[in-house]
Amino acid sequence: MGFLHLEQVSKFYGEFAAVCDFDLEIEKGEFISLLGPSGCGKTTTLQMIAGLVTPTSGKIALDGRDITQEKPAKRGLGVVFQSYALFPHMTVAQNVAFGLEMRKIARSERDKQVAEILSLVRLTPLADRYPREMSGGQRQRVAIARALVIKPPVLLLDEPLSNLDAKLREEMQFELRRIQRVVGITTIMVTHDQAEALSISDRVVVMEGGKITQVDQPYSLYEHPKNNFISSFVGKSNFLAARAVNETSGVSLIVDNTDLKIPSTKNYPDGELCLSVRPEKICLTAPAEGMLQGSISSRYFLGNQWLLSVTTPAGEISVSVANLGAPPPLEGEITGLSWKIEECRIMAAEQEVIVQS
Ligand SMILES: Nc1ncnc2c1ncn2[C@@H]1O[C@H](COP(=O)(O)OP(=O)(O)OP(=O)(O)O)[C@@H](O)[C@H]1O
Ligand SMILES: [Mg+2]
Repeated sequence: MGFLHLEQVSKFYGEFAAVCDFDLEIEKGEFISLLGPSGCGKTTTLQMIAGLVTPTSGKIALDGRDITQEKPAKRGLGVVFQSYALFPHMTVAQNVAFGLEMRKIARSERDKQVAEILSLVRLTPLADRYPREMSGGQRQRVAIARALVIKPPVLLLDEPLSNLDAKLREEMQFELRRIQRVVGITTIMVTHDQAEALSISDRVVVMEGGKITQVDQPYSLYEHPKNNFISSFVGKSNFLAARAVNETSGVSLIVDNTDLKIPSTKNYPDGELCLSVRPEKICLTAPAEGMLQGSISSRYFLGNQWLLSVTTPAGEISVSVANLGAPPPLEGEITGLSWKIEECRIMAAEQEVIVQS
């Protein structure tokens, strides 16, 4: 059994299932992200772990102990919410010391622990500042220090970086991961930012409509999404309509409205199929050499890459091209598109299957 075990946990508000049959085992020291669109039940799940929301059914166990009915204070988990709610009238050191005071830790021991944790989050020089005198990222680190100082068994973070600007947010992601590694604390972070979830988690839990749709390591999730929702939510994907035809030489896939025929050795379900291929897996070629041909309808410069939109008979296709310094093709130019067959995924077009890991 994992260190933290959620077993068939559900939360109903009347008839509405905010979270439904959430089943997950988390190992000690793991960094888990809960990823999903707004309203999919991420915060509700986190609050059930924290003890702030009572599950309608199911069981939550921490280190083998059933905590489903325990009060939040007894669980003693570290929680950081989006607003991070620091006490404005207290300095950084006082904010961090607060949880230790509540636990009646002696002054000298308290000072020692606060100093240790401030050093860990690199805030020692700012110990006597007030929250209003600090940047968003610094306040964020105070909130994390305050949650960590009580040495909780689990750290729960609800969109902790969402009100930081893009650059600071990226820095803080790695900072968060560094701190988590040093302390070795089991961490569950809620986010709706897929890049954030992929970059710092050991495993990502994708949720949709209150249910888990996939649990995987970031790389596997990106390369082997279990359905179309996940492949478009985690990274970007192009979806091409296709169908399988049986020929004497074997099965081939034919992409709708094109001559593109892809030989295959696999069996496919009858009916409409969907071929999904990521923008960065597609290469530009000379027009005659591509699997498909199209004209470039728009191009956006993203710094390290160009994002091109190409109009083809199979539909509009996004292609991302690394910026190696050379100018990209112009809008209106005809180009060929090519990709390796093993780098595209083929699913039934109407696939809405929710597969539980
Ligand atoms: N107290 C409540 N009463 C009724 N419905 C609720 C309550 N709390 C949450 N919900 C509903 O449960 C669903 C899940 O809410 P939750 O806050 O967990 O979503 P979330 O994934 O955290 O979304 P976001 O990314 O917007 O924060 C939502 O549809 C929400 O409206
Ligand atoms: Mg939320």
